Amino acid sequence: MLKTKMTEMFGINHPIMLAGMNWITEPKLVAAVCNAGGLGILAVARYNPKETRACIRQIREMTDRPFGINQILIGPGAKENIAVAIEEKVPVINYSLGKPWFINDVHAYGGKVVGTIAIARHAARAVELGCDAIVVTGHEAAAHGAAATSMVLIPIVASMVNVPIIAAGGFYDGRGLAAALALGAHGISMGTRFMLVKESPVHDNFKRLCLEATEQDTLYDNVFDGMDGRVLKTKAAVKMTRRGFPVIEAFKGALLVKKLLNLSYGKFIASAFAMMTAEEGHPLWVLARQAVGNMRHLKAIQEGDTEEGILFAGQCCGGISDVPTVQEVVDRVVAEAEETIAKLQGLKI
Ligand SMILES: Cc1cc2nc3c(=O)[nH]c(=O)nc-3n(C[C@H](O)[C@H](O)[C@H](O)COP(=O)(O)O)c2cc1C
Repeated sequence: MLKTKMTEMFGINHPIMLAGMNWITEPKLVAAVCNAGGLGILAVARYNPKETRACIRQIREMTDRPFGINQILIGPGAKENIAVAIEEKVPVINYSLGKPWFINDVHAYGGKVVGTIAIARHAARAVELGCDAIVVTGHEAAAHGAAATSMVLIPIVASMVNVPIIAAGGFYDGRGLAAALALGAHGISMGTRFMLVKESPVHDNFKRLCLEATEQDTLYDNVFDGMDGRVLKTKAAVKMTRRGFPVIEAFKGALLVKKLLNLSYGKFIASAFAMMTAEEGHPLWVLARQAVGNMRHLKAIQEGDTEEGILFAGQCCGGISDVPTVQEVVDRVVAEAEETIAKLQGLKI
């Protein structure tokens, strides 16, 4: 058993977190990770508040272990979803892309707040604001890593902060977990690895494409959802890097987001305006690309459309060659990390 500051803080058996993944980390996958001894995280950006509450309650029916939610703070509906999570006293609130306003409210019921960062100075800021732990995302990651790789970023952040560090970006096996601990982290968060498990809702067509991909087969660009991010190198993704701004698609995507979040036209326009004018807000073209990214992710994950769909995926696709259960992944990663650490302890010094 690997006990670290991360397992102690969250009351879990293994220093392994399910990375919040919009469209993917649904209650079944979250509960499976919790029941396997890790920390399951429900991504709620796609849900309206009613759905968020229902998902939180579903998780509680499937597990009595600690779990969390992940919310992208710049998205529409973020305030409402966070309010629901606080009302439901969710043990861990993990946020990304924005500034948290709710830390005291979470601490008031004994919950923990975990900030996700990809730039070292943002880690220091998150801790100053009162975060209990941080997820540190390297360039290798699916979706929104920044310029620095995990290898460089983790030790830098480890020298800056005293809270538990959860390393994300490129981690898919026990050697990675052992390496993250050596670099100064207290556990790992895995996205791509947990996307490729039996309990994951990702369409089989895209699971197969990820398994076939090498470590070279991802693209990092800002065309996929307006922010620098990494997707699987599919035909649709390559085409997106070559074409101009997709005006009509952006309009369709915006209508889809409005429908999914059950917003009136008034509320939809007001939340877009709030997203543009917020301290860490984004211009309209970024929001429009986000809408397109959402639509194309749905095409990939739910319809398995390999011509039009895109999927955030990490470089570690190249090291993943099977679709096991969550329990098998967790057991394997823990056993391999222990074996790796034992091997290193045997080195002559
Ligand atoms: C399909 C997909 C959706 C994602 N959605 C979110 C999200 O909603 N919020 C978030 O903070 N990160 C999101 N991420 C990023 C992951 O939380 C995590 O940082 C990343 O997967 C870690 O890198 P790895 O894939 O190499 O393990 C997403 C990743 C994927 C693959």
